[in-house]
Amino acid sequence: MRGIVLSGGSGTRLSPLTKITSKQLLPVYNKPMIYYPLNTLIKAGIKEILIIVTPERAGDYLNLLGSGRQFGCKFTYEIQDKPKGIAEAFIIGENFIDNESVCMVLGDNIFEDDLSEEIKSFKRGGKIFAKVVSDPERFGIVEFDKNMKAISIEEKPTKPKSNYCVTGLYIYDNRVVEIAKNLEPSSRLEYEITDVNKKYLELGELEVAMVKGEWIDAGTFDSLLLAQNLAKEKLADKLII
Ligand code: TTP
Repeated sequence: MRGIVLSGGSGTRLSPLTKITSKQLLPVYNKPMIYYPLNTLIKAGIKEILIIVTPERAGDYLNLLGSGRQFGCKFTYEIQDKPKGIAEAFIIGENFIDNESVCMVLGDNIFEDDLSEEIKSFKRGGKIFAKVVSDPERFGIVEFDKNMKAISIEEKPTKPKSNYCVTGLYIYDNRVVEIAKNLEPSSRLEYEITDVNKKYLELGELEVAMVKGEWIDAGTFDSLLLAQNLAKEKLADKLII
C-alpha cells in the first residue's frame, strides 16, 4: 500500500500565521503539524509516501523531511498548483500510486488513535473513518441505517442527516485513480473527496470505521490550540517519528 499526505491548501483561516509558511509546518507542541499524520501512516507500516505540497512551500518540506530515509521511508514530492480539491491528489499521484492501493491522510489531521490495524486490514473498495461532531454543517456527513450500514454521504449539508463526519483519512483500492479522473468539479469548483466516497458507496464497497479517540482538524486557531494540548498530554510519547 502507498501513502499520501495531502499538505497543500491555502490555510486562510490561520492567517497571518500562514502568510510566510504552510499550515502543516506550524508547530503542534514539539513537532511540525505534518509529523502527526505522517506518524499515522508510518506506524501502519507504509514506507512509500507521496507528500503533495504547494509550489511556494515545496523547498521547506524538502528541507524538513528530506528523502524520508531517516524515518526508514521513501518520500516523494509532488506539487498541487492550486487547491482544486482533495480528490485531485489521486490524479496528481497517479504514477506514484501505480498498481497499488492507497492510504491518504490530510496534513492537518491529528488522530489520537493508533489506526494501524484498521489500515493494515484493508482489502478492497474504500474505507473511511467517521467521528461524531457538534457542527456537522462544516464536514462531509455520513448517514447510517439502523444496522450502522452507511446509506448516504453529503458534503457540508445545510440539513445534516447525522452528526457523523468523515475525517481526513481515506483508504482506497487502485480504482480510485480512474474514479478521480472522471469527477466533475463541484459548485465550489473542487474535486470533492465526498464524490469519490459516494462512488464507492454506490458500488456497495464503502466501509466506514469509527474513530474512537480524539480527532482534530487543526485548521482554525481554536482547533490548533486543542491540537497543541492533545499533543502534549497524550501524543508526545506515542510518536515514532
Ligand atoms: P482545508 O482546511 O479545507 O483548506 P485549507 O487548508 O486551504 O484551509 P482554509 O480553508 O483555512 O483556507 O483543507 C483540508 C486539508 O486538505 C489541508 O491539509 C489542506 C489540504 N488540501 C490540499 O492540499 N489541497 C486542496 O485542494 C484542498 C481543498 C485541501
